[in-house]
Order: sequence, then C-alpha cells, then structure tokens
Amino acid sequence: MKLLVTGGAGFIGSNFIQYTLAQRPGWHIVNLDALTYAGNLANFDNLPLSHRQRHHFIKGDIKDKTLLTQIFSDYNFEAIINFAAESHVDRSILGPEAFVETNVLGTFRILETAKCFWEKNQKPNTFRFLHVSTDEVYGSLGKEGYFKETSPYDPSSPYSASKGASDHFVSAYFRTYGLPTIITNCSNNYGPYQFPEKLIPLMIINSIEQKPLPVYGDGKNVRDWLYVHDHCEALLTVIERGIPGETYNIGGNSEKENIEIISQLCDLLDERLNRKKENSSFQLIRFVPDRPGHDRRYAIDASKIKKELGWQPQHSFEKALTKTVDWYLQHLDWVNKVKSGEYRQWVKLNYQNRDQRWG
Ligand code: NAD
Ligand code: TYD
Repeated sequence: MKLLVTGGAGFIGSNFIQYTLAQRPGWHIVNLDALTYAGNLANFDNLPLSHRQRHHFIKGDIKDKTLLTQIFSDYNFEAIINFAAESHVDRSILGPEAFVETNVLGTFRILETAKCFWEKNQKPNTFRFLHVSTDEVYGSLGKEGYFKETSPYDPSSPYSASKGASDHFVSAYFRTYGLPTIITNCSNNYGPYQFPEKLIPLMIINSIEQKPLPVYGDGKNVRDWLYVHDHCEALLTVIERGIPGETYNIGGNSEKENIEIISQLCDLLDERLNRKKENSSFQLIRFVPDRPGHDRRYAIDASKIKKELGWQPQHSFEKALTKTVDWYLQHLDWVNKVKSGEYRQWVKLNYQNRDQRWG
C-alpha cells in the first residue's frame, strides 16, 4: 500500500502514522504537512528505524497545486487520508480566514488533484480518498439525542463551518465524478502528542506549571471523548473496508462535562505530583467568560461503524486519561519543543480577552 497522509505531523495524523506503520508492515506512507504551529516532526522522534524507512516526509501545503500534481505522479498513491486542517475552534473565532483557506480550498485542491490522477489511471475502484472530519459539523444537541450520519449539518463556529463545507465538496466529488471518497465524523480525541491548546493537554500542562485552569462558561458543556488510538484503528478499518460514498460517525461512548474532566485531571495530577490540599491543582480552576457560539453538547451514535465494519472503542475513558496524563508527565521535553513563541503569543491573545489578569 502506498498511502498519502496529509497533516500527518499533527496530533491525530502522527498517531495514525505511528499506529499504521506498526500494524501494516508492508505499507509506505508519504506524509505531506505544511508544519504550521500544530505540526511537529518531534512527534516522530521515537519512530523505530524499520518504520522510519517507510515514512517519507514532505513539507508542503495542500493548497499547492503544483506540488500536489508532482507528488501524485512521483508516488502513484493507492489511497489518501486527509487530516490536514486548521483544527482549533478558538483560533477560528479570532482568525477565520486560515480555516477557509486550508479546510475548504485545501480540501478542494487535494480532491481535484486526486480526481485527475484517478481518472488518468483508468479509475481504479480500489482507490480511496478518506476525509477525516468532525462531529462539530452537526451543531449542538440539547440534553437528549445523538448525532447520526443522517443528522443535518448545522455548524456553529468558523471551524465547524469550514469542515462542513469541505465535507460537502468530498460528497460532491463522489456523486458527480464517482471518486471513491469516504467521510468520517469523529468526536473529541485525546492522547499523546496533542497540541496544548486543546482542553485536556492545556489543563495538564497548566496544572503542572501551576498556571490557571480556564473553564469556559459554567463548565457544563458536554463532549464525547475518544482515545486517539481507538480513532486510528477506526480509520484503518474504514480505509480498508469502508464503502465509497458513505459517511461513518466515530465516537467513544464517553460523554463528559468539561468540569468533570478538569476535576479528574486535578485528582490525577495531585496524586502524581504528590500535591496536598494546600497546593492542590483544584485551586487553579478559574471560571472565565464563555466561548462565543459555544456548542452545549455533542454525542455520537456510532452504531453504523460497529454494525457494518465491526469497529468499537477499546479504551475506557478513566484508564486512557490516566495514560495520557502519564505520557505528558514523561514527555515534558516534547511539550517544551512544541511551545514556540507563537504558542505563548496565542495563549496571551486567547485568554487575556477573557480575563485581564491573564498573560
Ligand atoms: P492538528 O491541528 O493537531 O494537526 C493539523 C495538521 O495539519 C498539522 O500538522 C498542520 O501542520 C497540518 N496543516 C495545517 N494546514 C495545512 C496545510 N495547508 N497543508 C498541509 N498541512 C497543513 O489537528 P488534529 O487534532 O490532528 O486533527 C486532524 C484532523 O482531524 C482535522 O481535519 C480535524 O478537523 C479532524 N478532527 C479532529 C478531532 C480532534 O479532537 N482533534 C476530532 C475530530 C476530527
Ligand atoms: P476543545 O478542546 O477546544 O475542543 P472543541 O471545542 O473542538 O470541542 O474544547 C473542549 C471543551 O472544553 C469545549 O467545550 C470548550 C472547553 N474549553 C474550556 O473550558 N477551556 C479551555 O481553555 C479550552 C481550550 C476549552
């Protein structure tokens, strides 16, 4: 298998590459990544030598038509998995344009290049274009109900709107041209190598550094959480056995309020860092003004992928969260590598807006 992975130096992409190289010893992966603030080659520092030889990194942008055409003709890909994206809701609120550029225009360019290549090669029906998307395209749920593959799109943030738009292009390329595309819509991931701007790693790192733990609104927004290795296994299943034209929702059956997760993290860190009541991580919790357009609840009905492809999550939230905390504690060197000047600038911008005492 010759697989093109876009955005493979980010959180899920780098976990997927490491997982797939280990699970599929015959596979070669070309990793095309622009190395934005969220992409880090340090994610591959521990890749074994035999896996390294099957990982070919190319620094480049999915919007770059000339580069895309060149690498498709150089490598003759049999499948593509498109992770490359701007992925953080708060960043999309402060700077939406990059989300339109990468998530919409970038996805369009890679679809177009894949279509030309696929047509030139007599439209092999084994070819796959897997587009990795999010449950956020469906908008917000009330107290009841679950997102199904048939739920209407109703995005709230510039991030989810741009992912929704990219999903529509992917579906259109299947319906109009027959390109064998598949879409997956997944819930919130957590695990190793997640950039410390997202809830779980941000809370872990801030707590270790004795910095405030900013809870948006009342802290009762609900997300469904999936350990990243479960997501990687689901994606490998879909790329091997998924049906073109289909969408699969992927979830962890693990709905939690944000404040519940933050409390669990405080307990875990107090225990690991031997913190007593007087210097407990709980004392760092701060309720701050809410995110505008903040979706209240996400929950996934993942029965289709279970029934049709036999996938279901293997990790329990409690165990995998503990594993994640331990990973960050053991990889503070990685954290320091990825926390560039840009990162510090971002933290200041996002959180100073919410509270003047920040920064
Ligand atoms: P991430 O932000 O950690 O990584 C994104 C990667 O894409 C980075 O390596 C970045 O350098 C690269 N990239 C950005 N713009 C690019 C461009 N124009 N050209 C080439 N590379 C570019 O994101 P993630 O959390 O790993 O998410 C990966 C995908 O999964 C995204 O499409 C996201 O929408 C989707 N997703 C994420 C989650 C989640 O919880 N993290 C959940 C569901 C779906
Ligand atoms: P996030 O990790 O940004 O993922 P998403 O918005 O894509 O679901 O946020 C997860 C939840 O945590 C979301 O309800 C917003 C909340 N949150 C905070 O309360 N404080 C924070 O500092 C961050 C980054 C998120």
